[in-house]
Amino acid sequence: MKKIISAVLSLLMLLTSFEVRAEEGKIMNKKVLVAYFSATGTTAGVAAKLAKAIDADLFEIKPEQPYTEADLDWRNKKSRSSVEMNDLTSRPAIVSKVEDMERYEVVFVGFPIWWYREPTIVDTFMESYDFAGKTVIPFATSGSSSIGHSGENLQKCAPGAKVSGGRRFAADVSVDELKNWAEEQL
Ligand SMILES: Cc1cc2nc3c(=O)[nH]c(=O)nc-3n(C[C@H](O)[C@H](O)[C@H](O)COP(=O)(O)O)c2cc1C
Repeated sequence: MKKIISAVLSLLMLLTSFEVRAEEGKIMNKKVLVAYFSATGTTAGVAAKLAKAIDADLFEIKPEQPYTEADLDWRNKKSRSSVEMNDLTSRPAIVSKVEDMERYEVVFVGFPIWWYREPTIVDTFMESYDFAGKTVIPFATSGSSSIGHSGENLQKCAPGAKVSGGRRFAADVSVDELKNWAEEQL
């Protein structure tokens, strides 16, 4: 009898440990994409560090028409970025699409803060795919502004997604800090 009880207990313990491992595997095995737009390279640097930190695929949201220095002049009301950001329905075109977006469960979306929010080309990106059922985690770089309401804006572009508030990072954020933050999000 003792032997039977001990065998049943061992079996139960084995099954429980399998369940725990399967659960961990599910979290660890999530297919993750880091997509980013960067006009002057700062967000690109953070995105590359993040992708490396969590072993994710990396995709650049590249504008069909690259932004020139004049385009980015925020002091000039007629510059391209000023015109686009004054018309939040503007949707600047993107060069290419993510292949097989269906296979990603989690998508980090990075961008520079323009006028306290995401550039409208990021909205183009969000509206180009079916994000239903996916987790979207925004991140940004900026002069000093926070990520503000960008997460809510992204959510409006992808109603079926689960979009978090996200976070703004300094250009020199470490790989470790990004890793810890990303793991908290998953
Ligand atoms: C058109 C424009 C608007 C900007 N608006 C803000 C802003 O509202 N707040 C802020 O802190 N920085 C602002 N910045 C600075 C950028 O967010 C910052 O330089 C960012 O790190 C650039 O990222 P990138 O090199 O990936 O393009 C703005 C920059 C541009 C070009």
